[in-house]
Amino acid sequence: MTRLDALISQAGEFSRSDIKIMVKKGRVSVNGQTVKDYSLKVSESDNIAIDGKTIDTAKFIYIMLNKPAGYVSATEGDKNVIQLVPQEMFRKGLFPVGRLDKDTEGLLLITNDGDFAHKLMSPNKNVVKTYRAKIERPITDADIEAFAKGIVMRDGTEFKPAILRPFGENSAEVEISEGKYHQVKLMFAARENKVLYLERLAIGGLTLEPNLKRGECLRMTAEMLDRI
Ligand code: URA
Repeated sequence: MTRLDALISQAGEFSRSDIKIMVKKGRVSVNGQTVKDYSLKVSESDNIAIDGKTIDTAKFIYIMLNKPAGYVSATEGDKNVIQLVPQEMFRKGLFPVGRLDKDTEGLLLITNDGDFAHKLMSPNKNVVKTYRAKIERPITDADIEAFAKGIVMRDGTEFKPAILRPFGENSAEVEISEGKYHQVKLMFAARENKVLYLERLAIGGLTLEPNLKRGECLRMTAEMLDRI
């Protein structure tokens, strides 16, 4: 159980002092009953409303973004992905889980839950990420074998075995189980090829929602989180 003012403030929209004033003025209800005591003990399962409108008091939020090109996967700086989070999903402390390059599009998760991000990014978790790449030259059988064996770069960087599935003339799906910096681009560069366009389609069993337009966010359900 948490104090009413603390629970409302965790939703991020109001300061503790504003909340105290709203409660004293009778604008806040808990499970339909107007309350005047801001130190009342409540929980996230209670229905808390301000001026009759239920507010979302969940501490953690998990957002799926269909990242457009031109945005950096960072919390600051010009054109960053946090700026794409709509007001109703905004919380303090939001950050992208991992990183897509500025020119990469597709599935990016944003949260304020550090433990969740840490677990998902942990190198021994081996969560498979699926990408669609357009490349300069057609893929050969030797490329598929090289990806399947794992690739060692000239500077010694090692990339674990990956699955390369060519389709069309110069496109492929790539599955990697790590998330190293520029990994897909570097793996193709090691095969003397070049990525012209890259989109992330899936993280584990969680795929980019087909109706989610570029630049749009959706709040993830527990069922969606389980798919990772
Ligand atoms: N690999 C890359 O090269 N870039 C990305 O954005 C993601 C994976």
